[in-house]
Amino acid sequence: MEDLKGLILSGGAGTRLRPITHTSAKQLVPVANKPVLFYGIEALVEAGVTEIGIVIAPLTGDEIREAVGDGSRFGASITYIEQSEPLGLAHAVLTAEDFLAGSSFVMYLGDNLLRNGISGLVETFRKDSPDALILLTEVDDPSSYGVAELDGGRVVNLVEKPDDPPSNMALVGVYLFSPAIIEAARRLKPSWRNELEITEAIQTLITDGRDVHSEVVKGWWKDTGQLADMLEANRLVLEEIETSIDGYMEDSKVEGRVILEEGAVLRGSVVRGPAVIASGAVIENAYIGPYTSIGRDVCVRRSEVEHSILLAGATVEDLGTRMEASLLGRDVRVTRTDGPPRTLRLLVGDRSEIEIV
Ligand code: DAU
Repeated sequence: MEDLKGLILSGGAGTRLRPITHTSAKQLVPVANKPVLFYGIEALVEAGVTEIGIVIAPLTGDEIREAVGDGSRFGASITYIEQSEPLGLAHAVLTAEDFLAGSSFVMYLGDNLLRNGISGLVETFRKDSPDALILLTEVDDPSSYGVAELDGGRVVNLVEKPDDPPSNMALVGVYLFSPAIIEAARRLKPSWRNELEITEAIQTLITDGRDVHSEVVKGWWKDTGQLADMLEANRLVLEEIETSIDGYMEDSKVEGRVILEEGAVLRGSVVRGPAVIASGAVIENAYIGPYTSIGRDVCVRRSEVEHSILLAGATVEDLGTRMEASLLGRDVRVTRTDGPPRTLRLLVGDRSEIEIV
């Protein structure tokens, strides 16, 4: 088999992570201080797939280009492919047809995270050369995903986000395809959500009697398209970090596994890991609890933060109550001023969510 290419889908509208995604690509939201997308690129490179196309949307494409560059620092060569509108995963494949140039390829959804990478999967695909190799995992809410109906180990039917799921086996966002998928995608009609669905393209391969193989994911998998999943992915990745303290500490205590990057400052604070604190962050008279990722140049003062992701430049001061399960965008400020009247004063962007408890 000629060499496999990689196709990462990093376009789309990111509606479920608004307002963060009004101004930024959801694939660049950091998990343990590293953009979700980078995990995908690294997984491909680790599996020996280095010629990678990234599908981008017009609005967030530049930001992705800037963050990823030409791929050399990942050991990859990257081609950007602009998709004019988010018309579906199969539409993205058709848009990338010139890049794919008749090769087999790994398609990786840019907001997906797989604990154990994809090397084993790529090896199986190379060995068996089916027309599609799909990944499945058991989920509690199959209606939110593509769902497979199995007969023994064989996939007999696939449906996208069904109201009445035939099983609880969801399609994971990593697929391996022969060029036959292009022909199948070309025959699709837009679905109820006006997208060309890759799930339906694979179903077409099955109907045509092509070889569609499946494997069940080993280790965890997360689609980080929604806040709760993003926080859960952050928790799972932080679960595996090793302590390294390169920042500055004064009258502070670090418990459990913590990464304190060079240029980060802790004063009069307690950090209970697992947690990461990026360079330029200042934590003063504060408590940082487990499963928290603190981005570059973040300030936390006289406050408690736990199980949260704070993007670069965010500030949290004098909260007086613990903040948890939160995602703060870049340069967001959450502060409290002294004295009566005790009121809330807010300057909040479109579609933000604030829960006062
Ligand atoms: O995460 C797994 C699920 O991914 C599968 O179970 C579903 O079968 C599959 O359809 C997909 O569902 P989502 O609705 O979660 O896909 P989403 O719209 O989030 O898009 C996935 C990635 O592809 C995301 O990084 C954005 C990108 N994308 C999406 C569309 C619709 C594009 O690049 N272009 C597009 O047109």
